[in-house]
Amino acid sequence: MARAESPSAPLSGSDPLSTPSPALTLEEASRVGREVFGIDGPLEELGGERDQNFRVQDAGGDGRSYVLKIANAAEDPSVLDLQRAALSHLAVHAPELSVPSVREALDGSCWTPVEAATGTKHLAWLLSYLPGVPLKDVELTPSLARTLGAELARLGVGLRGFFHPAAGRVLLWDIKQAGRLRQRLDDVPDATLRRLAGRALDRFDARALPILPRLRAQVIHADANTANVLVGSRDGSASIAGFIDFGDMVHTALANDLAVLLASVVTSTADPIGDAARIVAGYQSVNPLDADELAVLLELRLGRLSAAVLISAWRVKLHPENARYITDDDEYSWEMIDCLSGLDPKQVLDALHSANDGAPSEIGSRPSSRPGPHDLQALADRRSRVLGPAYELFYDRPLHLVRGQGTWVYDRAGRRYLDAYNNVPHVGHAHPHVVEAIAAQAARVNTNTRYLHESILELAERLLATLPSALDVCMFVCTGSEANDLAWRLARAYTGASGGLALEHAYHGNSEAVTALSPSEWRRGAQPEHVRAVPAPDDLRGSYRRGQPDLALRYAAFIESAIASLAEAGHGTAAFFCDTAYSSDGILMPPDEYLAHAFQHVRDAGGLCVADEVQAGFGRLGTHTWGFERSEVVPDIVTLGKPMGNGHPLAAVLTRREIASALGEQGYFNTFAGNPVSAAAGLAVLDVLDRERLRENALRVGQHLTARLAEIAHDHDLIADVRGSGLFVGVDFVREPGSLEPDRDEARRVMNAMRDGGVLVGLDGPSGNVLKIRPPMPFGIAEADLLAEVLQEALDREN
Ligand SMILES: Cc1ncc(COP(=O)(O)O)c(C=O)c1O
Repeated sequence: MARAESPSAPLSGSDPLSTPSPALTLEEASRVGREVFGIDGPLEELGGERDQNFRVQDAGGDGRSYVLKIANAAEDPSVLDLQRAALSHLAVHAPELSVPSVREALDGSCWTPVEAATGTKHLAWLLSYLPGVPLKDVELTPSLARTLGAELARLGVGLRGFFHPAAGRVLLWDIKQAGRLRQRLDDVPDATLRRLAGRALDRFDARALPILPRLRAQVIHADANTANVLVGSRDGSASIAGFIDFGDMVHTALANDLAVLLASVVTSTADPIGDAARIVAGYQSVNPLDADELAVLLELRLGRLSAAVLISAWRVKLHPENARYITDDDEYSWEMIDCLSGLDPKQVLDALHSANDGAPSEIGSRPSSRPGPHDLQALADRRSRVLGPAYELFYDRPLHLVRGQGTWVYDRAGRRYLDAYNNVPHVGHAHPHVVEAIAAQAARVNTNTRYLHESILELAERLLATLPSALDVCMFVCTGSEANDLAWRLARAYTGASGGLALEHAYHGNSEAVTALSPSEWRRGAQPEHVRAVPAPDDLRGSYRRGQPDLALRYAAFIESAIASLAEAGHGTAAFFCDTAYSSDGILMPPDEYLAHAFQHVRDAGGLCVADEVQAGFGRLGTHTWGFERSEVVPDIVTLGKPMGNGHPLAAVLTRREIASALGEQGYFNTFAGNPVSAAAGLAVLDVLDRERLRENALRVGQHLTARLAEIAHDHDLIADVRGSGLFVGVDFVREPGSLEPDRDEARRVMNAMRDGGVLVGLDGPSGNVLKIRPPMPFGIAEADLLAEVLQEALDREN
């Protein structure tokens, strides 16, 4: 509470900074406690400059201690409401954190206007008093430094997804506003210090401002200085007992929380990097920082210190009588500005990285040292013991991933990898909006579709609104396999036929019925009698190739003959299962009009056309939300899966009412599918896709990525082709320059070398010779460039 000052913009006029703090006497405060809050006990005044704070014990009631806060007369009530809402959000979403809670007044309100004897009016409110010693009075041991970082990260994670209109205010203590303080330089009387602060602001403008807009932003505490962090003891060692004073909360870069803490905690000019590195490592063990955040941390710390000295210089002019209190930290701040300005940013960054390399991991057990290859082997052995032989692992050196964030995943040793492979975390690993939506609904209720609930309806309506109007029914399932299984049941029931069509190497799922429709799964000679596999329209190696006329017609003709064969065998055609971008067939895109011709043949035979959008859907191809839209066709059934819940098992079948009715009295029930938690996940994914314009991103970044890969292919004659659309891209390897003989070994070597280089891609295609690049949708230009560089390095390694 001691440093509870928080100047709001503007720099002058009536604001809590220029308005004197309340000056209630002990008797007056005691009366407020008694009459307003029903608390009658010993009262002690605490520090505080903008507000007045009293510790008061509810001697006649619960015996607990509280902080009676008398807000500055100029304080905006919405800022009190921001704090109240944030504290109750934390109580629900991060109950393990120790933060104050608001105790209501006797009349049920959260704060009440009170009038001092001097006639000034204030809002009074009551918060629980947290026991503990302020961090400034405790020695910062290396282990406390790590714990401190980790706890601050938990506070940030706890506030993810929280918002309040008052958090959008302009607050001069908010580091991103540091530039506004340039006009206060003249308040610094000493010319040398003035120059120092001026240079620090120049540096902030040049190095921090351009990066700030792209940092993760949310509402943060924003004032975790050593007076506002409390230390206690757990099991004999120091632990963080709580965070207090939420009066500076604001929506800003998340990394600013850490910069504030570092600016206040790290007082040693002898080793300004060491403690900081430990705190950052602790922070990263809970919430990994991305490259920009780490790189800009030093600049943000300098920004905070510059803000502190300039606000102090301004305030001394306003309140000369209070100069000693106001300038208490100035000497240290100036010293640190000088010291930090002289550091080599690269050296600082290296120190932060190497401290993180040894950092324990938050998720899972806490290893005492970095896991080595033996630990991984032990884990793999244990895995095959308990899971049996059916499960595969990616990469020659399997990965043990313990967390993910956006397009990055982290292994147990703290190494991060760019995820250019996983399409399930469609809007990014651990997207806060999705996490928050799932958690919030799980904390309320989770039931099944036999009870009424709005969110499943909203999800169905929002999905249907993206599809042609002919498709007017949405049925929920849990996986892509279940979606195709249900589509197959519907098609058989609707058409009365029993034959199916699929592309030669297609994969549509793992149930018995759908495995039959997945030629990639057929064992040699085990082709089901009722299914025909038709060649994929492969314009590189197929029967008809690029540049030849009528590709679409000629490939569609295979369907015509397969339909004739099904008719001859007495099955008829129930459905043609067709991806709208081909993954297991080798990252191929259907030629223009292929689907139109194919659908025509199927419909002429009385069959239904099922568009499997499990891979291509939700904007991945960049140009359209759904792959079939590229071909200007309207399927009879659309199946969705993988990306739909961002990792939460959620999938769907969208079709026409008459087709859905074919199940008749049998109806459909699926215990888990479309439950309120799943629906919340699905809605959150749609929100993020819209808000972050991820389809548009896929188009833009996909074009950049394929152009970079094509440049590489141009100089590397074992790459025969780079193809795809949006963020669905394949790189095709061949054995000899100019030949089309697939080279699975080279593709595999490159994939493993890229994994070792920190970029995850996969393999696909009938011969496994195609690098599959299919990242989470927030994949940016910088990530695309990194992927291209690492691919180039992997190729060079062989040469
Ligand atoms: C095109 C396609 N359809 C269906 C499926 C089956 O989905 P799931 O694994 O969720 O059952 C997959 C899975 O890889 C797929 O790629």
